[in-house]
Amino acid sequence: MFDRQKQGERALLLAPHGRGDGDPVRRTAEFAELAKSAGAEVVGVVTAPVKTPDPRYYVGSGKADEVAQAARAASADVVLVDRLLSPVQERNLEQLVKVRVVDRASLILDIFAQRARSAEGKLEVELAQLRHLATRLVRGWTHLDAQRGGAIGNRGPGETQLETDRRLLGERVKMLGKRLQKVQTQRRQQRRSRLRNSVPRVALIGYTNAGKSTLFNVLTSGGVLAADLLFATLDPTVRKLDGLSCGPAVLADTVGFIRELPHDLVAAFRATLAEVRDADLLLHVIDASDEDSGELQRVVEQVLVEIGADELPQLRVMNKIDLAQAGPRLDRDIAGRPQRVWLSAATGNGLDLLRDALGELLAGERCRAILQLPLSAGRLHAQLCASGAIVGESVDEQGWRLQIDAPRSLIEPLAGGDCAEARLLRSLLAPAS
Ligand code: GTP
Repeated sequence: MFDRQKQGERALLLAPHGRGDGDPVRRTAEFAELAKSAGAEVVGVVTAPVKTPDPRYYVGSGKADEVAQAARAASADVVLVDRLLSPVQERNLEQLVKVRVVDRASLILDIFAQRARSAEGKLEVELAQLRHLATRLVRGWTHLDAQRGGAIGNRGPGETQLETDRRLLGERVKMLGKRLQKVQTQRRQQRRSRLRNSVPRVALIGYTNAGKSTLFNVLTSGGVLAADLLFATLDPTVRKLDGLSCGPAVLADTVGFIRELPHDLVAAFRATLAEVRDADLLLHVIDASDEDSGELQRVVEQVLVEIGADELPQLRVMNKIDLAQAGPRLDRDIAGRPQRVWLSAATGNGLDLLRDALGELLAGERCRAILQLPLSAGRLHAQLCASGAIVGESVDEQGWRLQIDAPRSLIEPLAGGDCAEARLLRSLLAPAS
């Protein structure tokens, strides 16, 4: 862990806000958290109402002067702007304030880069960074070109350097793209071998800072970094989850969701969510002490729709009850299924309720039975073997006697169709009456 106070750059925040931006105080607080996540020490905030962005500095020139003065007064090393700036705006501001200017996209990329852990996550982040840089180089060039006009003798070395930079950048992007493909193939294979193990998978999701890593740690007693830093986890970290009544499961931690993720970064963020789509159950962690928790929940649900994971079974965890002055409890839906668990990951109060609910839900997601198959059903037998659903078997002249234990999601696709074998499987999946 690094020491934020000593190593952090001194950052002045510029927080423009326009109509329809929501609560500016909340938004600025969230941006300050982002800055801290990147390791910065916030030394001041300048807010700026903006109706239409100014092409020169994004904010008006009077406000830009105020930022320059505030940066000097606070001895800031960097100005962080809570907006996406054009390369020209970034450069103009830099010239005026005389320190580095970093916009929202670069700041989030910086955090992604610090936190990426898996090979795939690291490659995705580097690709996003290079693409972001590439647009700046190209646009930067056009801008300089226009400024220089026809100044003969002025262009040679600069132009060559820029073109070399662009070529090298292009080559690196291509190379990274290839490596990424290879890593993704490897990951698909790993996922298949996990499927063969047929252990149910649970994915932790939630708005950033809701307490996912803390919960992940107490549930798996693992050592994943949990800190009051946004994006403490970028890549899903997967661990075994023991102590459930349904038997072992696998738990994956994921990066926190945030509002207004810059467009360039959506691919890098989604790469971290592949684990979510493969899950049998989503554990949606919500900060119950946050008065905006309803709105943040909607942000998460919206992203789930976008990545096609909104139909997956979900258990909501209302975390931080120690701050919300609430007691531990389990809410059920009208069908009696566990729906919401109120707990505190930090104090451990209510964790037993969560374990019970998980055991109950995952047992419902599993299919355990004895299946008698005729020898003519060789194809189905092979499919069940390949899916890892068979935990014991014997065979005689009557056929196979199979002991099945697997998530229903694994068996269900095999039960499609109208042949006798499929009908056999469907009767196995039907709830016992
Ligand atoms: P990201 O990785 O940024 O998405 O965050 P996260 O959702 O993984 O949150 P994390 O577990 O890092 O927790 C964020 C902060 O909330 C940390 O300071 C935790 O100590 C704190 N926290 C987590 N759970 C609780 C809780 O039950 N009660 C209290 N009081 N604080 C908690």
